[in-house]
Amino acid sequence: MYEKIKRLKKEKNAVVLAHYYAPDEVQRAADHIGDSYYLAKKARDTDADVIVFCGVEFMGESAKLLNPEKTVLMPDRSADCPMAHMVTEEKIREVREKHDDVAVVCYINSTARLKTLSDVCVTSANAVNIVKKLPNKNIFFIPDGNLGRFVKEQVPEKNIILNDGYCPIHNFLPVSALDKCKAEHPDAEVLAHPECRAELLEKADYIGSTSGIIAYAEKSDAEEFIVCTEQGVGFELRSRCPGKKFYFASDELICADMKLNTLEKLVSCLENGSGEVHIDEDVREAALKPLNRMLELAK
Ligand code: 13P
Ligand code: SF4
Repeated sequence: MYEKIKRLKKEKNAVVLAHYYAPDEVQRAADHIGDSYYLAKKARDTDADVIVFCGVEFMGESAKLLNPEKTVLMPDRSADCPMAHMVTEEKIREVREKHDDVAVVCYINSTARLKTLSDVCVTSANAVNIVKKLPNKNIFFIPDGNLGRFVKEQVPEKNIILNDGYCPIHNFLPVSALDKCKAEHPDAEVLAHPECRAELLEKADYIGSTSGIIAYAEKSDAEEFIVCTEQGVGFELRSRCPGKKFYFASDELICADMKLNTLEKLVSCLENGSGEVHIDEDVREAALKPLNRMLELAK
C-alpha cells in the first residue's frame, strides 16, 4: 500500500499532510505530520498541485483558504471536529454589541463561517502570544471554553470573555483517571493539552499543543510521562523518544473523527480525486483574513 501511495503522490504531484491524531499507519504515509499550526503553514507553503489533508474538516478548509488555486482533498469528508460548531452567530453578535472594542479570537478548530465573524485565528500553539499582542482589552474567545480559560490565566491583563464550547475527548477526561494513572506511575511527568478541564490542568507539569507536548517530552530528563491528549501523538512520541515510556491517562482518549482517515481512503482519494474541499466564494475572503492575521502575528 505504501508503494502505491508513493507512486500516486508522484503522479499527481500531491503532498500528504497528517495531524498527530491520525492513525499511525496514515502518519507513516504522510510527507509532513504535525499540529494544526505547523500543518497550516505547510499547506500555505507547498509547491504541490494537490494537498491531501488527513485531519478533520476545519484543517482541510484552512488549507483550501490559504491555497485557493490548489486542489485540497480529504480521505473522509465527513471527518469533522464537533467543537468547530460550538458557538452561535447570535452570541458573537451580542458580545460585539455589548463591547465595542472587542476582538473575536477564533480557535482554528472552527467552521469557515465562524472564521468570517472573527478578528483573528489562533491555534493552541500560539493562542497566548497572539492574545497578548492584540491591542484590544476585551477578547471574546471562541469556541473552546477550556483553551479560552487557559489563555485568560496566562494573560490576566485582558478581559477575556469565555464561550462554553469544548472538545468531547479532552473535556471528558476525568481527573480521577489521571489520579489513578499517577498512583501507578508516581515518577511520571504529566503532559496535558489545554483543551482539558481546569481541574486536570492544575495537576500537569506541562500544558501545551500536541507539538509542544512532544518537544517537552524530548527535552525533559524524565523517563516516564502520563499523556493527557489524543492517543495518536504516541506515534511521534515513541519515534522521537525511543527510551522513554508514555502512558495515556485514559484509553478513551481517541478522536473518532480523526480515525476516519484510513490508508484505504487515502489511496482512493489520491486515485480518484474524491473528498475535495470547496469553500463558498462569499465565505472565502472573509474567512481568510483572520487566518492570515494569525500567521502574521505568530511569526
Ligand atoms: P493541536 O493544535 O495541538 O494540534 O490540537 C488540535 C486539536 O484538534 C486538539 O484537539
Ligand atoms: Fe476536535 Fe477534539 Fe477531535 Fe481535536 S480531539 S479534532 S478538538 S474533537
